[in-house]
Amino acid sequence: MRLDEIDTPALLLDLDAVEDNIATMQHLLEGTGVRLRPHFKTPKCPHVARMQLEAGAIGITVAKLGEAEVLADAGLGPLLVANQVVGAPKLARLVSLLRRGVDITVAVESEYHVRELAAAARGGGVRAAAVIEVDAGMRRCGTANPAVTVRLARMLMDEGIEFRGIMGYEGHMYGQPEAAARERLIREALDVVRQHVEALAEAGMPPSIVSTSGTASVPIAAGAGFVTELQAGTYVFNDLHNEAFIPGRFRFALTLLTTITSVKERYAVADCGLKSLTNEFGAPVSPDGRLRASRLSEEHAIIVGDGVSGLRPGDRVELIPSHGDTTLNLHDVYYVRRGGEVVDTWPIEAARRFR
Ligand SMILES: Cc1ncc(COP(=O)(O)O)c(C=O)c1O
Repeated sequence: MRLDEIDTPALLLDLDAVEDNIATMQHLLEGTGVRLRPHFKTPKCPHVARMQLEAGAIGITVAKLGEAEVLADAGLGPLLVANQVVGAPKLARLVSLLRRGVDITVAVESEYHVRELAAAARGGGVRAAAVIEVDAGMRRCGTANPAVTVRLARMLMDEGIEFRGIMGYEGHMYGQPEAAARERLIREALDVVRQHVEALAEAGMPPSIVSTSGTASVPIAAGAGFVTELQAGTYVFNDLHNEAFIPGRFRFALTLLTTITSVKERYAVADCGLKSLTNEFGAPVSPDGRLRASRLSEEHAIIVGDGVSGLRPGDRVELIPSHGDTTLNLHDVYYVRRGGEVVDTWPIEAARRFR
């Protein structure tokens, strides 16, 4: 199939760019001793996860059990849920994954989480495995005190849960646009994680997993010396937001193909809107930078820029999302391209698996 035969709006995935991004990340980590367990919140598609594993990833990180179930059904893992699994319905799903023999680790951050996990595992006749989430400064989830981390590690062991280590995510660095200040912030966050690692080691429970970091902090975290694995996700597709923080490293793999439905004197209108494209991190832009979706309503995009004068109704325009993850979550399928040819369609099986 050729690109011009696809109905729009449609999400295009450039396979050459995906392959390059996967290779670039693996290359970045070569010789550092740090491994990659890429975050599935970006691709949400087992085909991509399989490519990452084949290139050397040691497993897959997920945010939600729904994502873990998609990967388990595809036979992919081992899995790390970088999030708390809370509530009876979710714990029952976790137990059923464990019963199937899925290698899955979940994050805990308080005695409540350990107790509930232990009770569910006992009730289901399975052995659970956990990491302790530490708050690396993001002020989201995680223990803030190394002494608490040590106490939870002991409690996990006492409760018969396999203690596998710790995780921390320094996502607050994306709030710092200035590169030197951001680097300081990342180093401070890593230092917090290091304090938890040292406290555990002193208590005789050295963590075997120390998992941190999104795409933009990979170059720093890879040299930290105590981090064992990274959770980066966005690198695999890249988007405008990620590019602003780690410019020139990764290719844009994801674009939304749209059709121009109307052309006015100073702007044009495309057939995509908030139901197929998000703009939370700014305006989506065409690959040549000459068109910008300055405004989105539900099913319309207002396109401006110096490329508008050349547009006619019926023209096709590609837009790079400012945030790929929330855009692709609106879709069901990637049209996989090599150049101008669509070579495959891949279901985005974990789209909207937010439970
Ligand atoms: C816990 C956790 N780890 C890793 C990541 C991946 O970060 P990035 O998208 O910057 O690669 C995220 C992103 O939301 C996250 O929430």
